[in-house]
Amino acid sequence: MTPDRYFARQALTLFLMTASVSVSGKDIDDESGLIKAEGWEVVKSTCTECHAGMMITQNAGNLAVWESRIRWMQETQGLRALSVEEEAAILTYLSTNYPQKASSRRAGLPAHLLPTNPAEASD
Ligand code: HEC
Repeated sequence: MTPDRYFARQALTLFLMTASVSVSGKDIDDESGLIKAEGWEVVKSTCTECHAGMMITQNAGNLAVWESRIRWMQETQGLRALSVEEEAAILTYLSTNYPQKASSRRAGLPAHLLPTNPAEASD
């Protein structure tokens, strides 16, 4: 390997190492998988009794969405009533750390780019 290529490879390796460190920069609880940010202990003790933390970490939503999930679990799955303080701490944690994701679908095609519909016979 020429010295140039050697240094290029070293630089790339270093770059990739730094990049992966910054991606996993968040502190994660080994047991529940929850991000260790303000309020995580309340969430761990209240929300990982019936199902794994992954049920939470794989979901996303704004405050209203998380609130509706809690209501649904209270009404149909036996989640206990939460105090106002508990619920506020939980909802803030969830909507801050697992927020609504931006839509990953592309925008629809504009009308002039759509193919003609063969079912709509033009006679
Ligand atoms: C009393 C039991 C119980 C507790 C406590 C509980 N859940 Fe659940 N949760 C369930 C059940 C049952 C399901 C449905 C599981 C399934 O679909 O396999 C569920 C599903 C979910 C889902 C997925 C909902 C969906 O739309 O697919 C999320 C997110 C969730 N729970 C979050 C939480 C959070 C946050 C808490 C704490 C506030 C919590 N859970 C506490 C019973 C519970």
